[in-house]
Amino acid sequence: MKKPEISFALRKITHGVFVISTRYKDRVNAMTAAWVGRASFVPPLVTVAIGKERFSHDMIKNSGVFAVNVLGRDNIPLGKHFGLKSGRKVDKFANMDYDTKVTGSPILRECIAWMDCKVISYHDAGDHTLFIGEVLDGGVLRDEKPIVYDREEFFK
Ligand SMILES: Cc1cc2nc3c(=O)[nH]c(=O)nc-3n(C[C@H](O)[C@H](O)[C@H](O)COP(=O)(O)O)c2cc1C
Repeated sequence: MKKPEISFALRKITHGVFVISTRYKDRVNAMTAAWVGRASFVPPLVTVAIGKERFSHDMIKNSGVFAVNVLGRDNIPLGKHFGLKSGRKVDKFANMDYDTKVTGSPILRECIAWMDCKVISYHDAGDHTLFIGEVLDGGVLRDEKPIVYDREEFFK
């Protein structure tokens, strides 16, 4: 199979869209991620694949904490805000209110649900690192359907 066909096939894997936030020392940051999944019922575990070049990558590795913020239909601008620029260059939380729970990672008030996680292990995965997080706390803020990732909504 030719390479372009592999990527077209891979795009048939369905994802939601999430904002992965973290806190390291006195800095908070967050990035949009589609490559998020579940891994265990007991304890409740989630996985997030974070590109090694992302500013968030070393923050999560060093702090050992992150929160998953689940995006609904109205949250596409939020997904663009956190996904199309880097915390290396801008403070994406300037003028943005957020809550914190157990780990101190930002919980976005406009999202539909959140999970506050501590990293229990991480695994080298090519140009990404797969972080496995135990969900220490979580909640639903709005009883709405999560969005399904459509790249054209973010990258056109
Ligand atoms: C819809 C969408 C989905 C994304 N999914 C991922 C992902 O699963 N993993 C990842 O490493 N980057 C993903 N990104 C890219 C990061 O969000 C982007 O590079 C971001 O600017 C990184 O921010 P940071 O440098 O502040 O950590 C996605 C971006 C968008 C818009």
